[in-house]
Amino acid sequence: MSSKEQWATRVGLVLAMAGNAVGLGNFLRFPAQAAQNGGGAFLIPYLVSFALMGIPLLWVEWAIGRHGGIYGYHSTPGMFHVMGEQSWLKYIGVFGIFTNLTIAAYYCYIESWTLSYVFHSLIGTFAQTDPKIFFSDYVGETAHSLFAFPLEAGIWFLITLALNIWILSKGLAKGIEMAAKIGMPLLILFAIILVVRGLTLPEGAPGVVQSPLDGLNFVWNPKLEGLTQPTTWLAAAGQIFFTLSLGMGAIHCYASYVSKRSDIALNAASAGWMNEFVEVILGGSLLIPIATAYMGLGAVQSATAGGGGFSLGFLSLPTLFNNWGWFAPIAGAMWFGLLFFAGITSSLAMGQPIMAYFQDEHEMSREKSAWLFGVSILILGLFCVWLYPGGAFDEYDFWSGTFSLVVFALLEVFIFSFVFGIDKGWKEITRGADIRVPKIFRFIIKYITPVFILVVFIGALIQPAEGNWILACQSLMSGDSWPFAANSVIGKLFHVGVDSAWFTSEGMGTKVMVQDITRLLLFALFAGIAVMIYLDFRRKGGSR
Ligand code: ALA
Repeated sequence: MSSKEQWATRVGLVLAMAGNAVGLGNFLRFPAQAAQNGGGAFLIPYLVSFALMGIPLLWVEWAIGRHGGIYGYHSTPGMFHVMGEQSWLKYIGVFGIFTNLTIAAYYCYIESWTLSYVFHSLIGTFAQTDPKIFFSDYVGETAHSLFAFPLEAGIWFLITLALNIWILSKGLAKGIEMAAKIGMPLLILFAIILVVRGLTLPEGAPGVVQSPLDGLNFVWNPKLEGLTQPTTWLAAAGQIFFTLSLGMGAIHCYASYVSKRSDIALNAASAGWMNEFVEVILGGSLLIPIATAYMGLGAVQSATAGGGGFSLGFLSLPTLFNNWGWFAPIAGAMWFGLLFFAGITSSLAMGQPIMAYFQDEHEMSREKSAWLFGVSILILGLFCVWLYPGGAFDEYDFWSGTFSLVVFALLEVFIFSFVFGIDKGWKEITRGADIRVPKIFRFIIKYITPVFILVVFIGALIQPAEGNWILACQSLMSGDSWPFAANSVIGKLFHVGVDSAWFTSEGMGTKVMVQDITRLLLFALFAGIAVMIYLDFRRKGGSR
């Protein structure tokens, strides 16, 4: 039973929580976001979001988690159920199951790429094959059909899932904690080696077109203009959500295994700061400087604009490493190896809440619940592997990895302050604390954080075309409609800017069809989880 499990050591807990946060987002998403949003212009909104939203939400989620754990609940439905008298509270917990399941499905797929790329780096594939061609073949983009199944990718996906199931079935202390204790130091070591090698590339060395320090300067030189750009704020806040694993239910779950009188305030802050160190210091000094050295800053900016950090990380870096002679296969293995460690310590954190639900509500064994998680991810993930070229992956990423997180965080921060009550909440955060949590955070949690998230949410909902808010307001005032951006929530929902037909004139399925089917699947899953919670709580008796 999950309730008997606990963390073996405090270091292990903090490393596991930091491992939960430190993920692919730190090394691929952050540099790309920074590059797309003007480098240093991104930094100030990013740090402000961390202080006003990131840290407060970390405390709130740790507190909700530990509070639920006291009542024997280790996943969000039960945790919210015990936060008040209202019977609807448990349904807020649907998010904590749904987001973990759906993010894990596509996240484990990327994780499996990194494992396969370690292998391919070591056997020298990228010395012979252009990584761009390799990648298209690998994910099935060259198969001339949106519906072809990529076999090798599928096999690596299975191997990655098997690893996750194996570690999860070993339990909290012997599985997750052990993986974090091995994975986190190794990933930091690999990152430091690559950062040092990258930053010391001398100008004039073979292939070097610009100083790598120009890349570093681009990310680090704070520019105040970011403060006046709503789009930059939106991107910065979104990155804080994703990188800290906020609004997912994963932090809640890990914190529920902390005992009633143990510290959470310092632990939460330590894990959060460790994530920021890895993201800003290591993540910010790796991809962009190396790519700048060999491609030039302009090319880096255009590469990140199209495919995010994935394009640089998977398509460009393997070629650039070829300039490093005998060290190239090792550098490749280190780069993809560190991504793999970053990924797996996060996907384990997505698995544990699902397992905990079935352990708590169905008295399922650890092994069985780990298998159940694995099989669910296999089904949801294979859909994503199969329909990757059709855009299923991006749909998962948007609706679960971007949209759901914000909705869940918004709801939880309101419930924490106004249903559970900020007085009780503050006591929960500070009980057993090894630091003095500044009193100002009580005010921030109650008023600033919810408003901040609400503004981010509305911004994401109605973001105007090209991020031009002034033009959009002018358009509205002159009687025209609001020009929704294609990547705003409403723009996505209504396929703004694209033909929304499901079939081509030749009768072939279109991307829009894949997108709509994926959305229906996600919606059905969300509803299915709500029904499961209803039935489980009814079976356990009680009117609530
Ligand atoms: N926090 C995890 C990441 O950054 C999900 O990738």
